[in-house]
Amino acid sequence: MPRIIKSIEEKYLTSSLELVEKVFAESCGEEEGKTVRRLVEEIRAKKYYLPELELVAVDEKDEVIGYAMFSRFHIEGKYENELLILTPVAVKTELQRRHISKDLLEHGFEKAKEMGYKVVMVEGEPKNFAPRGFKIAFRFTNINILSPNSPKKCLMVKELESGALKKMSGSVDYSFYEALKEWRIFTICSSIFPITIID
Ligand SMILES: CC(C)(COP(=O)(O)OP(=O)(O)OC[C@H]1O[C@@H](n2cnc3c(N)ncnc32)[C@H](O)[C@@H]1OP(=O)(O)O)[C@@H](O)C(=O)NCCC(=O)NCCS
Repeated sequence: MPRIIKSIEEKYLTSSLELVEKVFAESCGEEEGKTVRRLVEEIRAKKYYLPELELVAVDEKDEVIGYAMFSRFHIEGKYENELLILTPVAVKTELQRRHISKDLLEHGFEKAKEMGYKVVMVEGEPKNFAPRGFKIAFRFTNINILSPNSPKKCLMVKELESGALKKMSGSVDYSFYEALKEWRIFTICSSIFPITIID
């Protein structure tokens, strides 16, 4: 399946929101679809947004089939210029398991490295992100999660610069984003798809 990965452009702003909402509605329920759409709108409007790292995968008809948002983040007010959060990631339901998210993420890692970022954090099902080099944070680092809605094994981290994680510690608090406060996705998804821990 041919695809091109690129940074967001104005012509994709609405279709990417629609894709994200639809994919999450299909995998986790209508409410979660709406929450994730609001999250993207909120990230776009707030100070940690990096348009170069808001990525779309488009097909040969220039339709958006995949999406990944990397934006700046902090832990207890630290690491704003080193740390990225990867959320959300979505691939058109019928086209999943064809390495579209792999291509999006690898493109993002390269671009983020060039821009000087050192660590990427993601909250997701370990089996989707372990193959991209993410490790479960609480097992391997001094970073943990504050949100009561998030199983702690779902917070994962990846170094873009060797050794960068050794210098980071603290509790991740999502309250900077209204939409993330109501982020129940992994509680819901993990009850549908049992979470597998991969070391
Ligand atoms: C999660 C999601 C983005 C993955 O996108 P995708 O394009 O289907 O993913 P890929 O084809 O690149 O596969 C990613 C990896 O997950 C692993 N994987 C995928 N499905 C798996 C399964 N059913 N069992 C075991 N491993 C699986 C594979 O190991 C694969 O990597 P590898 O083939 O290099 O080993 C996509 O399924 C999606 O949009 N899901 C709904 C929204 C969501 O949950 N987003 C993530 C949280 S923000």
